[in-house]
Amino acid sequence: MTQLLSLSRAARLAGVTRADIQRHIRRGDLTTFEGEIAVSDLLRVFPRVSLENDDALERVQRIKAAALPRSHDADTMLPSPAVLVTRLQAMGKALVAKASALDAAQALLDEVETRLTALTSPDADARALAREFTDWLAQARLELAAGPQPDPEAQLFAKDTFLRLMAANIKIIPSGSDFFVEGNESILDASVRAGLNLAYGCSSGNCGACKARVVSGEVWKMRDHDYPLSAREKQMGYILACSNTAVTDLVLEAAEALSVDDLPRQDIRATVRKKEVLDPDLMGLQIQTPRTHTLRFMAGQRALLRLEDGASAELPIASCPCDPRHLQFLVRRRPGNPFAEALFSDQVRPGHLINLEGPLGRFVLDESSPAPAVFIAFGEGIAPVRGLIEHGVSIDLIESFHLYWDAPAGEPFSCQNQWRWYRAMKDALDNFFVTPMVDASLEDILALVIADHPDPVSRRFYLAGPRARIEPLATGLRGLGVPEKHLSQEFLEP
Ligand code: FES
Repeated sequence: MTQLLSLSRAARLAGVTRADIQRHIRRGDLTTFEGEIAVSDLLRVFPRVSLENDDALERVQRIKAAALPRSHDADTMLPSPAVLVTRLQAMGKALVAKASALDAAQALLDEVETRLTALTSPDADARALAREFTDWLAQARLELAAGPQPDPEAQLFAKDTFLRLMAANIKIIPSGSDFFVEGNESILDASVRAGLNLAYGCSSGNCGACKARVVSGEVWKMRDHDYPLSAREKQMGYILACSNTAVTDLVLEAAEALSVDDLPRQDIRATVRKKEVLDPDLMGLQIQTPRTHTLRFMAGQRALLRLEDGASAELPIASCPCDPRHLQFLVRRRPGNPFAEALFSDQVRPGHLINLEGPLGRFVLDESSPAPAVFIAFGEGIAPVRGLIEHGVSIDLIESFHLYWDAPAGEPFSCQNQWRWYRAMKDALDNFFVTPMVDASLEDILALVIADHPDPVSRRFYLAGPRARIEPLATGLRGLGVPEKHLSQEFLEP
């Protein structure tokens, strides 16, 4: 029977990114069967998969670790002892089945050899043929006993077995998304880290919003929860994703928000965690939500921030939904803007209460295509674009990222801060490119884009900044043949 692998598992085994696998599928090198890949096809395209050479796999792990914001609630990367024991037992059963099959094959060969040796026939040709076959079989068995040649499929099996011990693969239906549960994290935490948007509320077993049905596989309840599942629900396989981890690979029936319209409007009492003055008129602001009430949003969206005195601002979220508890914003001081004035003064300090309402806006990543993505940001337009790029890295789907950032002249500190982020991304990703610009004209930007992307029609463009800069640029890109559906625009206050 053909053994099939999910895209995520195939990428891990081959030591490449999911985007690499997708690229091979698009080129026709790999065929998918209901979203899965045959082991034999994977070995044909990546013949060097072996246990000893894991550089590529480590590289992929490093990419994510270095490029994505670290989860502040990250748990150990080793599964709990209870989960490990269950996985080892399952592995023991698989090995027993393999060993039994091997013993049976051995016995069959013995029997064939015995019968061939005992074969008598009046026909001399038939006797000679039987003797020749017996000799060949004996020689082949001797060679096998001397040491079998490394079999790529067996090596892949060994590697897969080890990876299954460390992480379980979850497939969500009906969306078809899949992700890994690593270490001792809950199914919900793993889905958030992977950039999925499963339904949830409290993250702590009280509201029942994360209810999902286990279609196949085994879960382990990590903590008791107050939300009562009825006997019938339990019998049907319902669990709370926030309170369970995966023991084996799972197929899970769960609702996933696939568009901004699927997300509920939320109102959260959060606190100011950190203020960082990047330039005299620009501040990096970090907001922390309660652990049991994080913000569900899509990368690139905005939130309305309101101080206790009523001063408010609607700002793009400059971080990705993979860390929904720690949200980052850029705040520009503008004359007559009481929200910014309060933040730039001592009136608002870390620990100060702040109301968070959202998510708002439709500037989100097009996840229906792995096409290379081009981001063009002006000034604070970098905020939502950072969110989009970090999310793009966490879902590991987009083929490449090219960021053009037009920085305002005379803001050296904000540029330095931005450069630290660029460098981290560039060090971690070999498909991330940056072109910094300073007060570039429309003609210059279009000329750069054309030089770097001679086929702009096949790209997805994300533009963020003041309307006066974005609209002419969008018109210019349309003039180059970029279809409207490949253009996303986010207008920020000038
Ligand atoms: S998110 Fe509330 S019970 Fe799981």
